[in-house]
Amino acid sequence: MLPWGRALRAAGLLRSAGAAAAAQCGAARRERCGPGPGKRRGTKLPAGPDLRHFLRGAAKREPPPEPEPGPVPSSGRVYLETYGCQMNVNDTEIAWAILQKSGYTRTKQLDEADVILLVTCSIREKAEQAIWNRLRHLSALKARRQQQAGSPLRIGILGCMAERLKEEILHREKLVDIVAGPDAYRDLPRLLAVAESGQQAANVLLSLDETYADILPVQTSAGGTTAFVSIMRGCDNMCSYCIVPFTRGRERSRPIASILQEVRMLSDQGVKEVTLLGQNVNSFRDMSEVQFQSAAAPGLSRGFSTVYRAKPGGLRFTHLLDQVSRIDPEMRIRFTSPHPKDFPDEVLQLIQERHNICKQLHLPAQSGSTRVLEAMRRGYTREAYLELVHHVRDSIPGVSLSSDFIAGFCGETEEDHQQTVSLLQDVRYNVGFLFAYSMREKTRAFHRLQDDVPAEVKQRRLQELITVFREEAARANEAMVGQCQLVLVEGPSKRSALELCGRNDGNIKVIFPDAEVEDAAGCQAPARAQPGDYVLVKVTSASSQTLRGVPLRRTTLSRSAAGH
Ligand code: 5AD
Ligand code: SF4
Repeated sequence: MLPWGRALRAAGLLRSAGAAAAAQCGAARRERCGPGPGKRRGTKLPAGPDLRHFLRGAAKREPPPEPEPGPVPSSGRVYLETYGCQMNVNDTEIAWAILQKSGYTRTKQLDEADVILLVTCSIREKAEQAIWNRLRHLSALKARRQQQAGSPLRIGILGCMAERLKEEILHREKLVDIVAGPDAYRDLPRLLAVAESGQQAANVLLSLDETYADILPVQTSAGGTTAFVSIMRGCDNMCSYCIVPFTRGRERSRPIASILQEVRMLSDQGVKEVTLLGQNVNSFRDMSEVQFQSAAAPGLSRGFSTVYRAKPGGLRFTHLLDQVSRIDPEMRIRFTSPHPKDFPDEVLQLIQERHNICKQLHLPAQSGSTRVLEAMRRGYTREAYLELVHHVRDSIPGVSLSSDFIAGFCGETEEDHQQTVSLLQDVRYNVGFLFAYSMREKTRAFHRLQDDVPAEVKQRRLQELITVFREEAARANEAMVGQCQLVLVEGPSKRSALELCGRNDGNIKVIFPDAEVEDAAGCQAPARAQPGDYVLVKVTSASSQTLRGVPLRRTTLSRSAAGH
């Protein structure tokens, strides 16, 4: 499951949808906008099908309808707002790429927009609540606009909440014009065309194979230093608390060839860090090449099981990681979010061997109690999880670890909670994302379990977890004081123009003075580091979230790996 940290980092682009008791959130990523505001052309459209037409045919697990031939290109200004995880940031760019091709322009100004699209999240109730509140505000704006200027404003709900609550949204919020699920973004131009004619339009079909492989979303950071590349979508794990399999559908992987093509393109553009993105990245299985369809399934991490039968065939994550990391030796590779069950030795060995694959793993534990893990249907015990942590640390010395935890799951006792506290102490994560349990309809927990931990107890336990996590992370980070860390510079620090901000290999934020530094090769005059430069920084202090240090020299990833 995707952590929210990196997503919250996308602050310029992203509005956090509540809950976010995440103990770690980082620097802002700025929104990239399309060309400036364009003039709206009044396009006469053929009458489209109405809402019922789409909802009735919306049988799940079928391929989405082919978009009707040649939707009439429109030109409106689109304002996109993103809630939730990094996957949604990526989806925003997919939706935008599709609309741009159809003649839309993008605006950062809400009051300039002809179309407002919210890319939504359903993972916790608070996330949805924030979106309902926003919708009410936007609906008022729409009504005002209509009264004052007579110009229609279209509002669309995209993503997980659209999938989960399509009919409720359309009925409760009569002013919503478009509802599009996560697999229906190709249909957006047509849905908008229907909305232009004054009707509501919806497509919430889930797909078995949509990966938007051919749509190259522009998803780089403001400085053009880092980028996200989507490699798979959906989830087959069915953890009992999680709505994701219902909103995002079955697991499917993007063909390797198109992933490699995108990473090559990013490398040519000078991007220095690519994060491979998906709901379960390390369950990647590309079935598009016939000759690999009968390959044996790789083993699971020791002591782990799944609710589904082993899936043989296809090109796996190790192969993808190997190929991606060979593209550019100066490009750092990360991936998120993995599932702890899919860490066979080949993956760990590759991470250890390849100098440009970051030694940083997200191992979402969710709970430290075997009893609760069983109720969550996570497929492992506390002991198996701890064994994996030790194995990972033996295989990749110095690896930085992060995790997700849920406080107050159904039936969680004080003793179970203490087990989670002790897991946090035993593992000492560098980064953590901690949430109070929020019951979601449709999930197994909703049907079979009692949400019996009182809200105030959940909050108290959550606070305790956050406190323990912070103490341990501060200790883990303090151990780096005095060490040299290789930092990829992202840009000026948010707090001071005199400082630069970047990340070390473990994805921890590092701040250091923006001073002239010499070049390790010695062939260039001392200069100030720029976004995209690698700088060796000696760490002088640490907190639970940030390292501070002094820059020693500019260098390269390969030179640093070779110990120069
Ligand atoms: N309540 C609280 N947290 C949840 N998560 C997923 N579903 C829920 C829920 N119903 C958390 C898990 C997951 C992270 C992205 O969100 O920890 O890993
Ligand atoms: Fe992650 Fe489990 Fe939800 Fe899948 S079902 S998205 S693995 S938490």
